[in-house]
Amino acid sequence: MTAPLAGLRWGLGPGWLLRLKRCRRSAPWDLGIRSSASGKELLGLFSLNNDILLQSCRNYQAVLCTELTKPLIIRNLPSPSLQPHEVRVGVRYCGVNFADILACKGLYQKKHCLPFTPGMEFSGMVMETGANVSTVQEMLWPIPEGVSYEEAAALPVSYGTAILALDHRARTQPGETVLVTAAAGATGLAAIDVAANVLKAKVIAAAGSNYKCNLALQKGAVHSVNYTQGSLKEGVKKLTDNRGVNVVLDAVGGDIFKEALHSLAWEGRIVVVGFAGGAIPSVPANLLLLKNVSALGVFWGRYREEDFPVFSSSLSSALWYCQERRIQPHVGAVFKLEEVNEAFSRVTQRKSTGKVVISMQ
Ligand SMILES: NC(=O)c1ccc[n+]([C@@H]2O[C@H](COP(=O)([O-])OP(=O)(O)OC[C@H]3O[C@@H](n4cnc5c(N)ncnc54)[C@H](OP(=O)(O)O)[C@@H]3O)[C@@H](O)[C@H]2O)c1
Repeated sequence: MTAPLAGLRWGLGPGWLLRLKRCRRSAPWDLGIRSSASGKELLGLFSLNNDILLQSCRNYQAVLCTELTKPLIIRNLPSPSLQPHEVRVGVRYCGVNFADILACKGLYQKKHCLPFTPGMEFSGMVMETGANVSTVQEMLWPIPEGVSYEEAAALPVSYGTAILALDHRARTQPGETVLVTAAAGATGLAAIDVAANVLKAKVIAAAGSNYKCNLALQKGAVHSVNYTQGSLKEGVKKLTDNRGVNVVLDAVGGDIFKEALHSLAWEGRIVVVGFAGGAIPSVPANLLLLKNVSALGVFWGRYREEDFPVFSSSLSSALWYCQERRIQPHVGAVFKLEEVNEAFSRVTQRKSTGKVVISMQ
């Protein structure tokens, strides 16, 4: 395996540290990474040569948000010297997430001090380890044989969330029907993949265009509803002979969430994953009572602090399923580092499908 471009990194701005955190229950190759400047944390997938590359990086490129809602800028910065508890990673690919965009608008639930570098997932190679780092222990996962760097960067947030939402929270059973909204988005396609190909459920995909509906069908959904052309509730009713669906994964919020809630069958479960449409809906409690349904939430990143084994297992499972080719992340677009603003626009303009990634190659 060859070394990546030394010092070229995205997601690690000034003051960002890669710090080893020890965890009693972690797998031997997990590693902790934390930013000292903003408190924001990163996680990543990496590969490692038999001999860890002891290679110093003189400079690196950082994407910076210096002013909220303004375009991001790219700076060439001197690499900080490595502290004994830190690890330096040469990043190959980064995933772009809706949350990164919200953070750069000051709209994400966690606020960052300016300037900061957005980003929460990447794949790359461990380049250098600090003197006190004997094993890579938490927050980095080894990329298994057969999984590419590009795929690895597309897995953590989307597939971690999909696995947690559908398996851990909704306890989706084989043969159940799952409705996925924003079905051609990063979380949506991951949810279809996991529901159809791992949990053996029947998926109804709901999306905002015929093109997106067709993509969702190609990825494993058995039916689709274009919710810009009619009522989601009525569409699901028709497709399920009035029975409704057992599980909903909703990433849109607003009226789409309400229609999806009405589409649940007896003892159905709706999992709230996000509010891409911008409106946070409220849940009429009478609907929960009438059909004995449950409304659940998922905030994947929070599991890292509250229940690390569950968090870690969602990522390890995603990697394993990918290695076994039971799932296949859909990378809809690859941008260069200097095109980061175009990458963000692709997502905000609702033009992206699957995961948008930034390449450092
Ligand atoms: N809770 C968690 O742990 C977690 C984890 C990952 C993501 N999320 C959240 O889940 C949501 C989706 O994330 P993602 O990464 O899957 O994003 P994405 O790939 O960009 O997909 C978002 C999709 O939402 C739909 N959408 C509806 N109204 C929109 C609007 N006004 N602007 C933009 N998109 C709109 C679009 O699909 P259509 O055109 O088909 O409607 C779009 O493709 C976000 O709110 C994100 O923060 C939460």
